[in-house]
Amino acid sequence: MTGMLAGKTVAVTGGGNGIGRAVSLACAAEGANVVVADYGVAMDGSNPSSEVANLVVKEIEAAGGKAVAVAGDVSKFDTGAEIVAAAVDTWGSIDGVVCVAGNLRERMLFNMSEDEFDAVIAVHLKGHFNVYRHASAVMRKQESGGSIVGFTSGAFVGSTAQANYSAAKGGIISLTRSAALSLHKYGVRANCIAPIAKTRMSENVPFEIETGEPSAIAPMAVYLISDAAKEITGQTYTVVGPRISVWNQPHELRSMFAPGDEWTAQEIAEALPRSIKYEEHPMLADLERRMAQMENKGA
Ligand SMILES: NC(=O)c1ccc[n+]([C@@H]2O[C@H](COP(=O)([O-])OP(=O)(O)OC[C@H]3O[C@@H](n4cnc5c(N)ncnc54)[C@H](O)[C@@H]3O)[C@@H](O)[C@H]2O)c1
Repeated sequence: MTGMLAGKTVAVTGGGNGIGRAVSLACAAEGANVVVADYGVAMDGSNPSSEVANLVVKEIEAAGGKAVAVAGDVSKFDTGAEIVAAAVDTWGSIDGVVCVAGNLRERMLFNMSEDEFDAVIAVHLKGHFNVYRHASAVMRKQESGGSIVGFTSGAFVGSTAQANYSAAKGGIISLTRSAALSLHKYGVRANCIAPIAKTRMSENVPFEIETGEPSAIAPMAVYLISDAAKEITGQTYTVVGPRISVWNQPHELRSMFAPGDEWTAQEIAEALPRSIKYEEHPMLADLERRMAQMENKGA
């Protein structure tokens, strides 16, 4: 098979629906063997079904590609091992992992239950760790290295009614940046995509957003896994419709130094407003407009 991923084996979590399905199909179309990993759950996490992953495997096979399904819950450590084993046992390597599986439990912070917080951290942040951990243990020993792609969200900057999701997505960026560092010497790269696309997850967003189709996200995942991106690691890219944007690397902007060994609170109160000042939270300026739209849509 020819294509940008010919000869590679790629696992895609959440590969049965929405963006993950588009990524699975695109990887197979570019010549990869694909592990379609999906728990096949409803948005509230209920009714797991192996049918969701199996259907995408059938679609890939019908188009002449190669795929196997894994139907486990990615929040479980052992499912990460199972996904990687499916790749290695079937095709002998794991060259790329794309972690797309995700869930939502939207609630204002002051009303959020412990279960709602834990469920989102478990599927997103722990789900990424579970796959990264097992995949990287194999990738670091492969001569050809590997490529890890995490799925974050622009909501990592902050989210009014999704503190759990925002925290998980911020954690995924830090986890991925750390993977880029710890795996660099083994030729393993790690990057994040922050997508926006019309799926069941985004259909209830209570304000107007720039959006596009899931198929618009998939080529960026293919590129990041491919050898064409061999210089790219530790990056975060927004992908929406025709737009791809690179995020900055977080760093300190300005410093101030105490007149003595340490600052007192009173000295900080006097110096900070005229010295290093502060940086505006980028979403605060837009908060009123979004809140008005949420109210108009009855959210
Ligand atoms: N759609 C958007 O606009 C948007 C925006 C920002 C970020 N994202 C992120 O993109 C990713 C894909 O989102 P989507 O819109 O395609 O969602 P989706 O709901 O269409 O697909 C998510 C998939 O994950 C699977 N899944 C859920 N819990 C799982 C678990 N415990 N184990 C294994 N699989 C599980 C589901 O069965 C489903 O197939 C998510 O990480 C999401 O946070 C999406």
